[in-house]
Amino acid sequence: YVRTLEGCNLLWRLLLLLLLCFTERRGVPPDLNSVAEVPNTATCHPQSHIVFLKTHKTASSTVLNILYRYGESRNLTFALPVGQAMHLFYPKLFESRFVEGFSSGRVKEFHIMCNHMRFRKAEVAKVMPEDTFYFSIIRHPVTIMESGFNYFKAMPAFSNSRSLEDFLDNTNHYKDSAPWSFLAHNNLAFDFGFDHNVTADAEDHEEKAKRAVAAIERDFHLILVSEYFDESMILLKHVLCWSLEDVVSFKLNIRSNRTRHQISPNTAEKIKRWNALDWSLYLHFNATFWQKADSVVGREQMKSEVSQLRELQVKLANTCLKGGGAVDPSQVKDASLKPFQAGTAVIQGYNLKPDLDNQTRKQCQRLITPELQYTLHLKSLQFPTKPLNN
Ligand SMILES: *[C@@H]1O[C@H](CO)[C@@H](O)[C@H](O)[C@H]1NC(C)=O
Ligand SMILES: *[C@@H]1O[C@H](CO)[C@@H](O)[C@H](O)[C@H]1NC(C)=O
Ligand SMILES: *[C@@H]1O[C@H](CO)[C@@H](O)[C@H](O)[C@H]1NC(C)=O
Ligand SMILES: *[C@@H]1O[C@H](CO)[C@@H](O)[C@H](O)[C@H]1NC(C)=O
Ligand SMILES: *[C@@H]1O[C@H](CO)[C@@H](O)[C@H](O)[C@H]1NC(C)=O
Repeated sequence: YVRTLEGCNLLWRLLLLLLLCFTERRGVPPDLNSVAEVPNTATCHPQSHIVFLKTHKTASSTVLNILYRYGESRNLTFALPVGQAMHLFYPKLFESRFVEGFSSGRVKEFHIMCNHMRFRKAEVAKVMPEDTFYFSIIRHPVTIMESGFNYFKAMPAFSNSRSLEDFLDNTNHYKDSAPWSFLAHNNLAFDFGFDHNVTADAEDHEEKAKRAVAAIERDFHLILVSEYFDESMILLKHVLCWSLEDVVSFKLNIRSNRTRHQISPNTAEKIKRWNALDWSLYLHFNATFWQKADSVVGREQMKSEVSQLRELQVKLANTCLKGGGAVDPSQVKDASLKPFQAGTAVIQGYNLKPDLDNQTRKQCQRLITPELQYTLHLKSLQFPTKPLNN
């Protein structure tokens, strides 16, 4: 069964590949040997049972890299996709047997689950320990749609539209039942496991939004916000009892500015009405994010830690990166560090400085390793005897 899922026809493969790589945020980055502030482990224990629901086009590739590095450096076990799969069979609703080593009993304890999936709590809970921390990240639906339109241009849902405006004015031609249509309609809600076919014209859209919010509140401990990425990392560090160095990153899967588009206020309104569910989720969880940030960290402390984080990022960029920042993919020298390209977006990558000592090079390399390559690396570490290409 899983074989059929993984398999075969070209279109399916293409779609899976496209889905793996979403454009995210721009950015700069960190330091390796600094004495950054360490959490007070007398009052808290670092959390290492974690589920991260990796949503689409929300800077989630950068969060994934943070979790990969944290887990790898501590020999934690990841709930990786079974066989050759590179994600947990999105867009199917999650099933425990999608995880390598679970059904066979080969892996006794999973620490981190973070690859793309369509969330289903009951099945995730079969794999992960009871004390697992669940979190995810959301982003403004207008920005998601602008980004998604470029990224998914080739998808059936978008391919007949000349522009995003054209698409929004002709949603009567759009079919929620069409393959991959969820990429163009309430994609956040869909990733969390809900129906995506809700607009502001539907009488019951508020009721549906309320139910979705309540379910997410019940199943997740924390929802981060992409627009406040650094603040999100500080809050995450506090609730997980991690250090500043644990949450430092270079932004991965980011688009070059050339492929960004301005959205008019009128278009923005249409996007919010079309994605009524996602808009409600965003308003709610943006508000709760700030309530949590205020109660757990506090405004002053947040400001001070965000600037520490940014200093660390700059230091690390100076240590690791040639030119100190991201470059277009054509300029990425090491082919194994080239990010996957999709649609009309141009996904940027990084070059390392040439003269790094071995240990620094290894740490720097992990920071800029794209998702696909890093996932393969973890698979080979965790299942060294299992051939990857059979
Ligand atoms: C992880 O495993 C490696 C190899 O078995 C070992 O050398 C290293 O000390 C371990 N690291 C931690 C943090 O346990
Ligand atoms: C939305 O899709 C679900 C199936 O995923 C279906 O049961 C429901 O009737 C649809 N609702 C609307 C308003 O189309
Ligand atoms: C891209 O845009 C961002 C935000 O507007 C800006 O900070 C950055 O300098 C720009 N980068 C380039 C290469 O123009
Ligand atoms: C998100 O929360 C911040 C802080 O309260 C607020 O300034 C911002 O307007 C909110 N965003 C939206 C779209 O409501
Ligand atoms: C650094 O790595 C290179 C190639 O992997 C190896 O030849 C060299 O001996 C290493 N240097 C040190 C100091 O470990």
